[in-house]
Amino acid sequence: MLAARGAGTALRRALLLGAESRRGGAAMAGDSGPGTGAGSLRGGAALGRPQHVVDLRSDTVTQPGAAMRSAMARAAVGDDDYGEDPTVNELQQLAARILGMEDALFVPTATMANLIAVMCHCQRRGAQLMLGAQAHLHVYEHGGAAQVAGVHSQALPDLPDGTLDLEQLELAIREAHGSRYHPRPELICLENTHSSAGGRALPLTYLQQVRLLAERYGLRVHMDGARLMNAAVAQDVEPARIAQHCDSVSLCFSKGLGAPAGAVLAGRRAFVAEAWRVRKLLGGGMRQAGVLAAAARIGLEQAEETLRRDHDNARRFAQGIKELNSPLCSVSLAAVETNIVMVEVKGLSPAELCTYLQAASEEELAETGHTVSVLLFPWSERTVRAVWHCDVSAHDTELALNKLGFVARKYQEKLAHGQGPSPRSTGEH
Ligand SMILES: Cc1ncc(COP(=O)(O)O)c(C=O)c1O
Repeated sequence: MLAARGAGTALRRALLLGAESRRGGAAMAGDSGPGTGAGSLRGGAALGRPQHVVDLRSDTVTQPGAAMRSAMARAAVGDDDYGEDPTVNELQQLAARILGMEDALFVPTATMANLIAVMCHCQRRGAQLMLGAQAHLHVYEHGGAAQVAGVHSQALPDLPDGTLDLEQLELAIREAHGSRYHPRPELICLENTHSSAGGRALPLTYLQQVRLLAERYGLRVHMDGARLMNAAVAQDVEPARIAQHCDSVSLCFSKGLGAPAGAVLAGRRAFVAEAWRVRKLLGGGMRQAGVLAAAARIGLEQAEETLRRDHDNARRFAQGIKELNSPLCSVSLAAVETNIVMVEVKGLSPAELCTYLQAASEEELAETGHTVSVLLFPWSERTVRAVWHCDVSAHDTELALNKLGFVARKYQEKLAHGQGPSPRSTGEH
C-alpha cells in the first residue's frame, strides 16, 4: 500500500516536473520565435516575435478545429481489434463508399497504408513495383517497400504534371515481363495528387490508360491518394471516379482534411481482409481508435468546402506572384491545380528566401505597420513550396503575399545599390 502510494507520489512529481519543463521549453521557443535569427535584406534589426505567423510549410500542420475536437470528445468507442469500435466501423464504411471500393481499413498513417498495399499486392519477395522517382512512397517512406516488403522498386522519371511516360512505363514492364533475368513486375504505384510535382491532379484519361496497361501485363495498380480528395475537388468529380482505375487506394485524413492522424486503405473485400493482418503485423491493434476516426469523419464531411477554399487561396497567391512581376520569384499559374504552389526563385537560394520570409524586422514594422512571419520549405535547388490548408485564411494569404512583396522590394533596392546577391546564392543560380 505504502509502496503504491509512494509510486503514485513519484509519478505525480514526475508529471509536475514534466509540465514545468514543458512550460520552460515553450517560453524559450516563444522568445526566440520564428525569424529572430535573420534580419531584413538590409540587415534591419530583427524583432523578437512576429505579430502574425502564416504557416505554409505543409497541410500536415493543421490544428483540429472546434467541431473536430467536440466530435472526438463525444465519439463512441470500443476495441477495434475485435471489430467493436462503432466510429471506426462507420468511417471505414463511409470511406469505402466514397471511394467506390468494397471495403476500407483505418490505419495510423498514409505511409503505413502504402506499405500495407505493397505487401498485400506483392506477396513474393523479389517482386517489382513501378513508380515515379519522386513519388512519396519511393523517396520519403524509408524504403519500406525494400526494407520490409522485400520488393524491388523500378523508379521512372516523373513528368512535370506528375504522370509517368506511358511508353517508358510499358517498355520497363515489357522488358521484365516473362523474363527470368528481371524481378517480376507486379504493381504500379501512382500518386494523386502528386506532391513533388506541386499538387498536380492526375488526368482521368491517364489513369484509364495506366489501368489498361496494367491489365495487359497482369499487374495491379495502387494509388497513393494521400491527397485524393484534393484531386476530386479540383477535377469536380466523385472520388470513386478516380479510384475506379485502381485496385487499391490510400487516403490520408491528416493533410488537407485537417484531422490529427489517420488514413484509410481501400480495395476489394479480400484485399482489405489481408490488409488487416498486415496492419496487425506492422503495428498491432488500433483499440479505441474511434477518437481519431471521429476527427477523420469531420474532415471528410468538410472536405469539399475546405479544399475548395485552399485551392482558391493557392491560386490567389500564385496570381499575386505574377502581379509582383519581380525578378526574384516566378510561378506557373497553369501548374497550380490544388493547394500547392511551387515558387521558382532566382538571385537568392530557396533557403535564403525562406529565411527572409520568416524574419520579423524593425524595417518591416516601419514600412508596413506590422510584422508577419511566413513559413515555407525550400523544396529543390530552385524552388520553394507553399501549401494551403484549413488554418490559412484568405487574409493570411494576402499577408503572405504582402510579405513576399516586401522581401522582393528589399531585394530590388539591394540590387539597385549595387549590392548583388551574395556570392553563395550567385553560385547556385
Ligand atoms: C503523397 C504523400 N503520400 C504519403 C504521405 C505519408 O503520410 P504520413 O506522414 O501520414 O504517413 C505523405 C506525407 O506527406 C504524402 O505527401
